Amino acid sequence: MIDDEIEEAINDQINAELYSAYIYLSMAADLGERGLDGFETWMHSQFIEETNHAMRLYQYLESRGGRVKLEEIEKPKIEWDSPLEIFKDAYEHEQYVTGRINDLADLAEEKNDRATLQMLQWFIDEQVEEEESAEEIVDKLEMIGDDSRGLMMLDKDLGQRPMASVFPVKAEEGEEE
Ligand code: FEO
Repeated sequence: MIDDEIEEAINDQINAELYSAYIYLSMAADLGERGLDGFETWMHSQFIEETNHAMRLYQYLESRGGRVKLEEIEKPKIEWDSPLEIFKDAYEHEQYVTGRINDLADLAEEKNDRATLQMLQWFIDEQVEEEESAEEIVDKLEMIGDDSRGLMMLDKDLGQRPMASVFPVKAEEGEEE
């Protein structure tokens, strides 16, 4: 059985991950509207990854005898000024998510819930990657500036990102999504 406060915090995090998915899908739509198909593909993959993060928490909560309780998902922003603004927001959002995961780990530590702490280690590692990839694209877009050829080259590059696969409904422990 899982502690009530941890159950509530994991449910909040499921909502936050689904909101992240929603933001990235909205960013994908804005990028697609600009004709940046590669950027759009990159964001579609990110959307799937965030849904997978929510599923990973969902399955963990069930495995601990907790109850998944879904909440309303906040409406995301739908328009940005530029691809740079989009990726700056994505980077900022990932930093916010890292803070949330750290708070969750603090709570698990406080409650001496080692299983939750161990589960969260995957998210802690994942956040390092998520922040790094968003920051890298921000840096590239800043270098590119108004150079449309540079933007097209980056678009082509980002379009090579393999589409994330959907998290298996009952994945084995430790399996990558
Ligand atoms: Fe699920 Fe990008 O954090």
